[in-house]
Parts: sequence; C-alpha cells; structure tokens
Amino acid sequence: MEHTAVLKIDDKEYSLPVMVGTEGEKAVDNRKLRAASGFMSYDQGYGNTCSCESSITYLDGENGVLRHRGYPIEQLAEHSDFVETAYLIIYGDLPNAARRKEFGLYLRQTAAIEPQMEKIFEGYPKNAPPMAMLSSIVASLAAHYPHLATNNFEKDLVNFDQAAAMAISKIRTIAALIYRYQRGLPAIPPRQELPFCDNFLHMMYSDPDKDYQSAPEVARALNLLLLLHADHEQNCSTSTVRMVGSSAANLFTSLSAGICALSGPLHGGANVAVIQMLQNIHDEGDDGTRFIQAAKSGDKSHRLMGFGHAVYRNFDPRAKIIGKACEDLLNKLGIKDPLLDIARKLEQAALREDYFIARKLYPNVDFYSGIIMRALGIPVNMFTVIFAIGRTPGWIANWREVAADARGRIYRPRQLYVGPLPRDYVEMARR
Ligand code: ACO
Repeated sequence: MEHTAVLKIDDKEYSLPVMVGTEGEKAVDNRKLRAASGFMSYDQGYGNTCSCESSITYLDGENGVLRHRGYPIEQLAEHSDFVETAYLIIYGDLPNAARRKEFGLYLRQTAAIEPQMEKIFEGYPKNAPPMAMLSSIVASLAAHYPHLATNNFEKDLVNFDQAAAMAISKIRTIAALIYRYQRGLPAIPPRQELPFCDNFLHMMYSDPDKDYQSAPEVARALNLLLLLHADHEQNCSTSTVRMVGSSAANLFTSLSAGICALSGPLHGGANVAVIQMLQNIHDEGDDGTRFIQAAKSGDKSHRLMGFGHAVYRNFDPRAKIIGKACEDLLNKLGIKDPLLDIARKLEQAALREDYFIARKLYPNVDFYSGIIMRALGIPVNMFTVIFAIGRTPGWIANWREVAADARGRIYRPRQLYVGPLPRDYVEMARR
C-alpha cells in the first residue's frame, strides 16, 4: 500500500514522502520540511527519529524481536559464535570457510600490542576507571597505525578489513592488559593458536610460568555473552560512532567515542548496578520482597535495576537466552551464587506484580549478564569493558555504513533555541 503524509500547519498543507523499511516500518521523511515551511521537527533524544537507513540489525521492541542481517538472535546464539557473528554483522553475510579462515587469521595476526603501545599503560594510575583507559588507548590506535586511520573515507575503506579485525582483536587484548596492569601483574601476550575467547581468558588469567586452564563451558559462556552484545541498532554508543564517523573521522577514533558513550551508567553500566542491587539485598537479609515494594513506589532511586528497557516493551530476547545460560554455567561449574537465587526470586516476584505487568517491565540482558561475569572471575569494574568488546563489531559495521554511503552527509541535528534574546554587551567584571 502506498502511504501519503500531509502536514497541516495553520492553513497550509505540506505533503511529505513516506519511507518504508524492508520489515514494513514506516517513517515520514521531513528532510525538506524546513525549506518548504520554515518549521523544524522536535524529538528530544531522537526517540522517534530515524537518523539513518541501516541494513545491519532489525529490532521490534513490541514483539521482542532482534535480528542481525536477517538472522534471529536465538539462532545465532544457538549455532554461531562471536567471531562468526561479528563477521556477519560487519560484512552482511555469514562467512564461507575461506573467508572465516582469513578473518580469523587477521584477528590472530593483529592481537598483540607493540612494546611502544604497552608504555601507554604506565601513564595511568593503577586505580583508573577501566573504561577511561580503554577509550583513550583505543583512540591511540589512530596514532600508532596512521596508515589505517587517514580520516579519508576512500582510503580508510581500502584498508577496512585490516582495521576492523585489528580493532576487534586489540580491544580484547587492551582489556586484558588493563585488568593485569591494575593488579600489578605482568602482561601475558596472546597465543596465535587459541580461539578468540580462550585467548582472552589466557591473557587475563595465565601466569608467566603456568597457563590458565578452565572448563570449556567458561569460554563458551564468554562467547555467548559477547555475541549477545554484538549489536543493538541505534543505541547511544552506536549513534555516537555514526555521528563521529560522519565527519570522516577514522574507525579507531569513532570507536573510542563509542566507548566513551558506553561508559555512562545509563547505557553500559546497568549490569554493574544490577550486581550492586543484588548484593545490597543480600547484605540486608532481604529476599527481594522489601526491594520490590520500594521499586513499586515509582521513585527512580529505587528502580529494579535490570528491569525495563527503552525499546523492548514485551521481553528482551537476549535476557531469555542469557538467563538460561547463566543457570547452566553455574550448574556446570558447581558455583552456588546467592545473588543468582535472589535474581530468580526477584524476577518471579516482579513478574507477578501488577505494577510491573501494567508497565510492561521485564528483565533485560543486564539482569543476568553480571552474574555470568562474576562466575567468569571478571571484577565488577571490568563489566562495561567486556560489553565494549562485545559491541565492537556493531560499532564497526555502523561506521562502515556511514563511510560507504556516497550520499551521506555529516550528522548535524537542529535545536530549538530557548536562551536569552539579543542584548547589548555591558562589562560586568568591573562592577
Ligand atoms: N523499576 C521500577 N519501575 C520502573 C523501572 C524499573 N526498573 N523502569 C521503569 N519503571 C517505571 C517508571 O517509573 C514509569 O512509571 P510511571 O509510568 O508510573 O511513571 C514506567 O515504568 C515507565 O518508565 P520509563 O522511565 O518511561 O521507561 P523508559 O523506557 O524511559 O526507561 C529504562 C527505560 C531507563 C531502561 C528503565 O526501565 C530503567 O531505568 N531500568 C533500570 C535500569 C536498567 O536496567 N537499564 C538497562 C537497560 S538495557 C541496556 O542499556 C543494555
């Protein structure tokens, strides 16, 4: 069906084109509205504004649907792994054996950090926030590899395969080095023969004279965790990557900006808040009942962390997968985490409460991801760093869309000015 949109302002009518996505989503195209009428559109925080067309991820929050390049997240979680899903998200199709091998080789070859770059770490206090370290060290990749970061779309796209693999691989290595640096432990270099997640665990937990050994479930759980975070449409950090990239800034610089955006507690830090909440409930000897009563007050300071989502209004499909994986992992490793028991009780109790039902509040991916990370030995202050490793393919894919869009323009939203009217300068300092 052909759609038409007509906007009536006072006594004048303006026809606006309607755009339809492949999944039937509809958007009124108001790009020419200002020129035709002098009016802008207002949408604080862009909650109902498409800033771009994208073919990477489809998200239907009403029905709990998440697909990457058409593939449902449930199928990817069951059959794929992080590296393959990263390839899919970045390049658009699942890799055949040759492409997978080539991509894997790039990841392995670019994993190590050169001695000169290692020196950067020593400039930070040992207790520096890991996300502050990660964002600045990732930005420094543009300084260390200027041939991959020319700030010229055409040239940067020629070297894109290498830059993309380097970003995924090195962000993981940098994360492990941050962990070790903060503990005063010597750096453990990557090992070429290890798969992506095993290599990360090796760099995190091996000793110089003793290799880290773990049950295969550990690397598998990490793989799933990263895969579930690999992309999530136009969230705050991904939009930031596109915004920065739209100025023709190189991939590494744009990724660093994404990491900065992710560091905020309203975005990447929610899993930390969940663990703190569960710990408080545990420490206070509450089984969750008192906490739920407080959460129902509507007071923001008592929110049930890990519940609710800006776009999912039914359920977060990632939460279903991760909740089950969390239970499986703890069972297999024989870990008894009292916080998991509290989380389960909270979930069951909240899902029975009218308050949560009426507001369509369900567990989101963060409700269980922190418990998995605890089981993997990852300290709370590194949770958001792990999220960043997982989200890197999504950021890269979005940067590439911006860079490859010949019709693209620099991102430049408008504003509604509500400041003072013109006034004459009067020197105040000497009064
Ligand atoms: N606990 C209790 N009440 C809640 C919660 C919660 N977690 N979330 C929303 N509500 C209530 C609000 O008070 C509001 O009630 P009202 O209608 O009586 O005023 C109603 O539900 C709607 O809330 P909004 O704030 O409009 O929901 P919004 O979509 O803006 O917020 C958000 C979504 C920020 C995720 C919110 O649900 C929240 O703060 N959740 C806890 C934090 C969290 O888990 N964040 C992680 C999100 S996932 C991610 O970023 C990877």
